[in-house]
Amino acid sequence: MPSAADDPFAACPDRHRTGSEKWDRYPDRDVIPAWVADMDFPAPAELLAAICDRVDHGVFGYTHEPPGFRESLAAHLAHRHGWHVDPARIIATPGVVTGLAITARLLAGRDDAILTFTPVYPPFLTLPGLADRRCLRVPLLQEARRWAIDWDALEAAAAADGARLFWLCHPHNPTGTVFATDDLLRLAECAARHGLTVVSDEIWSDLILDEDHGGPRHVPFASLDHPAARAAITLVAPSKTWNLAGLGCAAAILPDGALGRRWRSAGGGLVPMVNPLGYAAAIAAWTHGDPWRRRLVDLLRHHHALVHGAVAAIPGLSCVPAAATYLAWIDCRGAGRDDPQAACEAAGLGPSDGREFGMPGFIRLNLACPTERLVEALARLRRAFAAA
Ligand SMILES: Cc1ncc(COP(=O)(O)O)c(C=O)c1O
Repeated sequence: MPSAADDPFAACPDRHRTGSEKWDRYPDRDVIPAWVADMDFPAPAELLAAICDRVDHGVFGYTHEPPGFRESLAAHLAHRHGWHVDPARIIATPGVVTGLAITARLLAGRDDAILTFTPVYPPFLTLPGLADRRCLRVPLLQEARRWAIDWDALEAAAAADGARLFWLCHPHNPTGTVFATDDLLRLAECAARHGLTVVSDEIWSDLILDEDHGGPRHVPFASLDHPAARAAITLVAPSKTWNLAGLGCAAAILPDGALGRRWRSAGGGLVPMVNPLGYAAAIAAWTHGDPWRRRLVDLLRHHHALVHGAVAAIPGLSCVPAAATYLAWIDCRGAGRDDPQAACEAAGLGPSDGREFGMPGFIRLNLACPTERLVEALARLRRAFAAA
């Protein structure tokens, strides 16, 4: 075992009084925050050094994609996923959520429908309405070992009047599903048949748990050899993998330059430029971040195993194993609690509430924290569901 001194995940800075959304949710209460998807770990030293170098420059004027931004992402996608992207097709955006919101306005009209698999990361459900578009939910099927696509339900939704876009969350938050190539191709077929554009949110694609141990690998939707894939938009960011969400830097990979020219104006003047520190961190992450990322994935695999052991021992709880992410999607419907979220909070644990993801009776647990804290969180989970 590495010593605490060279283990970047053993101890974490206190995030109180830093404006942390995660830690400010339960002020003055002994509740372990395990909800919003950021990690308690500091970013790797190479990224901090790159940010400091940019600060040392001292001038922070209006900034667009600096040299190396597009190229470092293209190199990262080629190295990690075998996907060769022309850097000219990459455009920066301050967030993946911003990117989704832009596609709603760019590629769908008023009252058109945007399809998505549920349960899902809440903005997939709320953003269409904010843009005067409709959200069409296609529920995934819960099986013992995986969450599967309900092809009949997808076909029916895709055939609905005004269906224009499919927002794919791949890997999938909250279930941790890494969609297989066969499924992606079948989805591409369906999209092509019904004239849907696929927007693939691949923000979790660098946190694949078992790819070095014979498990599924991530296949970018747009890398498939299919016309619907060649027309797709992909959204990525370094923020989940290297814990940079507060720096607001993501990227869209567009099918062609014409869309790029319309992309910025689709923000309606509301979308700011990416800030120079976000760019510096992103370039460093994609260029130098892989050794740290691999160590993180090892830790997350261990944490998922701890969660599974704990969940299996609590009557009424179950969890389909995740293939990606640092999230566990726990089915509490058999535990005899009307409000699992409230039960957890009363026991000192603050997960995300499944209702926000379109699936009441579930909770989502963020396990990207020091192991000791996770062990305490799991003790509180046991307490929350202990027999009354
Ligand atoms: C699937 C997914 N997309 C997007 C985001 C947020 O991305 P951003 O902070 O770049 O808007 C998250 C954050 O948890 C997420 O899980």
